[in-house]
Amino acid sequence: MLTDEAKLNEIIEHWKRDSSYLIEMLQDVQAHYRYIPHPLARRLAEELDVPVNRIFHIATFYKGFTLEPRGKFPIAVCTGTACHVKGGTRILENILRDLGVEREGQVSADGLFSVESVRCVGCCGLAPVVTVGGDVYGQTSSVKISRILERVRKAEQAH
Ligand code: FES
Repeated sequence: MLTDEAKLNEIIEHWKRDSSYLIEMLQDVQAHYRYIPHPLARRLAEELDVPVNRIFHIATFYKGFTLEPRGKFPIAVCTGTACHVKGGTRILENILRDLGVEREGQVSADGLFSVESVRCVGCCGLAPVVTVGGDVYGQTSSVKISRILERVRKAEQAH
């Protein structure tokens, strides 16, 4: 991974220092760091000569951005109506317990996971739906997700 400064410079240059591409730049920052670090938001604001509040406004307005670090494998639990009816909220509670975290967005001690609830991921026929690191698991359960997390942990330890 490039250093913070090198990667940010690369992103800024890629978008030709054009602040009309601010959202695209933030998407690249988010993709690389998995969140928008505050110091980088400030530097980006300086480099583009835009108010830093504009960056924080975008980062808090769009659900795809986060100002907090996420786990290496972010987990999203759908709690939309179809998934809620089929136990999505219970699955979310069990994942929080499994990870040993107190709230959504908090990263597990091993740095691997963070979990957030989302509203309908568009495949209600597969309810309840959970994504782990971008992989979608439908008609799932707390037990199945627990096994998936364990598999990811073991794979990471083997690296
Ligand atoms: S409500 Fe969960 S995918 Fe639609």
